[in-house]
Amino acid sequence: MAQIIDGKKWSGISREETKGVVDSLHKQGVRPGLVVILIGEHPASMSYVRGKDKAATAAGLYSEMIHLPSSTTESALLQLIDRLNGDDRFHGILVQLPLPSHMNEKAIIHAIAPHKDVDGFHPVNVGALDLGLSGFVPCTPLGVMKLLTYESIEVAGKHAVVIGRSNIVGKPMVQLLLRHNATVTICHSKTQDLPNITRQADLLIAAIGKPNVITGNMIKPGATVIDVGINRVNGKLCGDVDFASASQVAQYITPVPGGVGPMTIAMLLQNTVDAAMKLAH
Ligand code: GUN
Repeated sequence: MAQIIDGKKWSGISREETKGVVDSLHKQGVRPGLVVILIGEHPASMSYVRGKDKAATAAGLYSEMIHLPSSTTESALLQLIDRLNGDDRFHGILVQLPLPSHMNEKAIIHAIAPHKDVDGFHPVNVGALDLGLSGFVPCTPLGVMKLLTYESIEVAGKHAVVIGRSNIVGKPMVQLLLRHNATVTICHSKTQDLPNITRQADLLIAAIGKPNVITGNMIKPGATVIDVGINRVNGKLCGDVDFASASQVAQYITPVPGGVGPMTIAMLLQNTVDAAMKLAH
């Protein structure tokens, strides 16, 4: 039976660390601020955004949530972002995705000032990650790396297989693993004979977005399995990994819920505090 990586526990520890930094910033007269913009009534997004707001406030950040109707025009949102770019109360700006279909996601992301882009989605930050320069790293892959570090799981020299090539998770995950000297294979929906590749993974990262598709027979005995999926089946949350069979084969495994998810929020707080520190120094 695999050892379960407790994301809730580690995110609590990470958030405490962040709170310590926030306390010291308060003493210097700096209060890190985060603004989260949500457009429309997407139920999962509404719950994520509430979670982000609550966690930010609990860590001592100034947090504001702006909820706009789905009828909001792209130009109104661009104007709002422009105003927030110049608002010193906010060190981080996050626009919750997905956006309503009448909005151009690229244009919206591009409008956020790179030094306030705590999601790490702006091309300047994406380029910085690719080049190994400092910048904001997307919260979910950053959270995965933090979990591996907390659990002292070796990455250097290991074969990491990432399933999924999204801009939010898969691609930045690959860059971070390379930065930590893993040998990386990227799989996606067009990959042929996926099980043959996943069975070679010392570290398997599933970011597919389909429930329970990674089963125990696709996993190398002793591997570390990180499940980034958040799927809803009959109202119940589950990951991309079939936990029951995978946990019989893996050495370490993250559960859903309570694995990577809580770390994403913890990393958002860390990125926001980093943004405030850069300005304070
Ligand atoms: N939607 C799902 N995940 C994310 C995320 O990490 N950031 C934003 N802005 N939207 C998301």
